Amino acid sequence: MSFSLHTHTCAELRRKDIGEEVTLTGWVWHRRDHGGLIFVDLRDREGMTQVSFDPEKSGGTAFHTAETIRSEWPIKVTGMVRERPEGMENPKIVTGEIEVLASEIEVLNTSRTPPFQIEDHDDTAEDVRLRYRYLDLRRPSMMANMRMRSDFTFAIRKALHDRAFMEVETPALFKSTPEGARDFLVPSRTQPGHFYALPQSPQLLKQLLMVGGVERYYQVAKCFRDEDLRADRQPEFTQVDVEMSFVDQDDVMDALEAVLHDAFAEMGVDMRLPLRRMSYWDAMDTYGTDSPDTRYGMELHDVTPIFSNSAFKLFASAANTEGTYVKALNAKGAGTWPRAQIDKLAAVAAGLGAKGLAWIAFREDGSVNSPIVKFFSDEEMDALRAEMDVERGDLVMFAVESRLKADEILGGMRTHMADALDLPREGHDFLWVVDFPLVRWDEDRKAYAAEHQPFTQPVEADVDRLESDPLSVGSHTYDFVMDGCEAGGGGMRIHSAELQMRVLKLLGFTEERAREQFGFLMDALEYGAPPMGGFALGLDRVCMLLAGGDSIREVMAFPKTASGSDLMSAAPSEVSAAQLRDVSLRLL
Ligand code: AMO
Repeated sequence: MSFSLHTHTCAELRRKDIGEEVTLTGWVWHRRDHGGLIFVDLRDREGMTQVSFDPEKSGGTAFHTAETIRSEWPIKVTGMVRERPEGMENPKIVTGEIEVLASEIEVLNTSRTPPFQIEDHDDTAEDVRLRYRYLDLRRPSMMANMRMRSDFTFAIRKALHDRAFMEVETPALFKSTPEGARDFLVPSRTQPGHFYALPQSPQLLKQLLMVGGVERYYQVAKCFRDEDLRADRQPEFTQVDVEMSFVDQDDVMDALEAVLHDAFAEMGVDMRLPLRRMSYWDAMDTYGTDSPDTRYGMELHDVTPIFSNSAFKLFASAANTEGTYVKALNAKGAGTWPRAQIDKLAAVAAGLGAKGLAWIAFREDGSVNSPIVKFFSDEEMDALRAEMDVERGDLVMFAVESRLKADEILGGMRTHMADALDLPREGHDFLWVVDFPLVRWDEDRKAYAAEHQPFTQPVEADVDRLESDPLSVGSHTYDFVMDGCEAGGGGMRIHSAELQMRVLKLLGFTEERAREQFGFLMDALEYGAPPMGGFALGLDRVCMLLAGGDSIREVMAFPKTASGSDLMSAAPSEVSAAQLRDVSLRLL
């Protein structure tokens, strides 16, 4: 590609170009006056080239202009590539052996002094960075994140396109259909009192595309969910959304593995196939989460049987109560912590829903420190040591709860302790978690809720128990877990209208409400809907993990804050009375 404003990028020139006349454009990064010589680090999105201005050789005008330029002014410079003077080479950058001796300079614009330095190692508060995101994006690390995201998105598009997937765009103005989170609503001007909803995902639309015969669909799709934000959640995020028809679960998972493998390979990440598959219950029981990081151990153990005759009432009564468990976790290394530090773990456990935290610290000198150990018999201690592989320096923690609750508390403690102990987690860890239950009991709503979503295909052999024992019904579902993060999820879909209605009823819908909300889906299912299944990859999350970060905001050009604001444009903002009138709305 050739451009009229420049001949090269700021990362392109090398030793072989010495003697050539070139023109570069970019921003003034750093400017240094060195006794009559001026050095400018010229930066564009590719990199940086040193430009020098010499009053003897650069000509008076160019030198005098160089004296006036300031940080972040965009300039155009023409000059000769030359070897850097001895001792001034910089092996850390690709253009570090050369510099451009400027003969002409043109100031393309000036700039106010930026509110922060455009440097990678800068501890500017995030709200300032977000307010001036266009400056923040100029930092090389942010630009590298943007490029990585672009490369990965391109690689996955190519991997899908190469396998005959067709990209189809679906509408952003659609019907409000409950999918788990709250909808963002858009009032209609032409139909007062009526609202569109922004899609939480293109789920129903992709199912309709399968009924429409698209057969292999994908879309890099914007999704909108009005939910509480976290480091890995934004109200507006991107999925690589996929659906296939005339396939079974293994066909879909095999196709997805091949696509993911190729896309990650383009990023230099070797994803070994076939991916490991772990059942939902194994993941919960062993790691206390349905998105485990298996790069470290610290597995959960069921120690209930050890305490069935214990003098420690809490454990003994749990061991003798149906559905209640004593589970334990061994955090190796934390047994050396001072008592005060261990005591603070109770607050962490409370945050995870625990009523308290029982623990035993096995000190380096062989002694045992614990508020509960005095109740344990020697046999119990021996059995515990054997089950938990106890060594000096270990801290064993317990949760006494129902199975899932105990798993979740200790799963949270496991992650907390891995961070606190700074456990090494190198490389990337990929696995499928499969066989989720179809529904779970939602205690707040006192109703069954879909574990994945209301359109998931139950395991055929379990369908008979849909009404009699719903919690025992399995589903054709799979989550893609990367580095302990739920990076994607999917499943096979119900393609029978009758079964779909049974599941909606189980989820608390009356027939009328189900028709009102999902009538268009139910109708479509009655017109020869094929067997189908699919998946959605959380693009922001995967890019966050590829970038080695812990916030998806670092891989999004214009993210929102935890309260859903865009600090740059000050959205959301008030609108005029006339705009409200247009859509027949009055504020309370
Ligand atoms: P699900 O709701 O599991 O499935 O979403 C798929 C993936 O999207 C990512 N994700 C998010 N990323 C950032 N911010 C959010 N608020 C957010 N919410 C979800 C996660 C998640 O794994 N229609 C189904 C997919 C299917 O069955 O085909 C769906 O949306 O990485």
